[in-house]
Amino acid sequence: MRKSIVAGNWKLNGSLETVSQLASGVASQVSNLNSEVVVCPVYVHLNPVASAVSGKKVALGAQNCSAQLSGAYTGEVSPGMLKELGCEYVILGHSERRSLFSETDSDVSEKMKSVLEQGLVPILCVGETLEEREQGLAELVVKTQLLAAVEGLSSDAVQTIVVAYEPVWAIGTGLTATPEQAQQMHSFIRGVLATVSQSVAEQVRILYGGSVKPDNAQELFAQDDIDGGLIGGASLNVEDFVAICKAAG
Ligand code: G3P
Repeated sequence: MRKSIVAGNWKLNGSLETVSQLASGVASQVSNLNSEVVVCPVYVHLNPVASAVSGKKVALGAQNCSAQLSGAYTGEVSPGMLKELGCEYVILGHSERRSLFSETDSDVSEKMKSVLEQGLVPILCVGETLEEREQGLAELVVKTQLLAAVEGLSSDAVQTIVVAYEPVWAIGTGLTATPEQAQQMHSFIRGVLATVSQSVAEQVRILYGGSVKPDNAQELFAQDDIDGGLIGGASLNVEDFVAICKAAG
């Protein structure tokens, strides 16, 4: 039985004051839920958010990190530094990092290794563009991204990761994949993970991301292979995010 997760990707939003309020507001309303709740602010907001959720049932995640552990890498932040701040999760390979910051599958693969070595859980994002879907390439794109990210990892390591299927055409657009479209891809992803091992495929949590809102969350999360969500816009509003967390159980 996989434990569901709802993670809020706050992206480049908020101020010290507003993220602390958002984090405390969420933390005060999710203590009775069975699902795991994670919030992912920008690096410089990690510390105040860690204080706001300390002792509460909300875990902390980062939105990215360096593959490097230390050294002359100006402007980078290592997985070990994130761990020291209380992070348990790190989003890797988000489509915005791939498209706006030229991150490649090979960059994501290096980051996966470093994050796992430091004992953090990567939330690995995969997903196709609208053009790729229309050309019938959605599964190929997702499979390529997924296999590149887990290449060279032990099956023990792979079974700890979280995968987020985020069709690029559904991110921030208000267009959500239908529950059937999402389930179909999640089941496909589980099939790809089964090539690592059947028990890995059964254990890895696969989240859906892309315009998840309180009014569509329940139907999406009810699908067999959808184990929660990675939420952008709706995670910036306490009531909306809590409603989505409740939909995951
Ligand atoms: O990582 C979450 C994300 O990209 C989805 O964003 O705003 O469509 O929920 P949004």
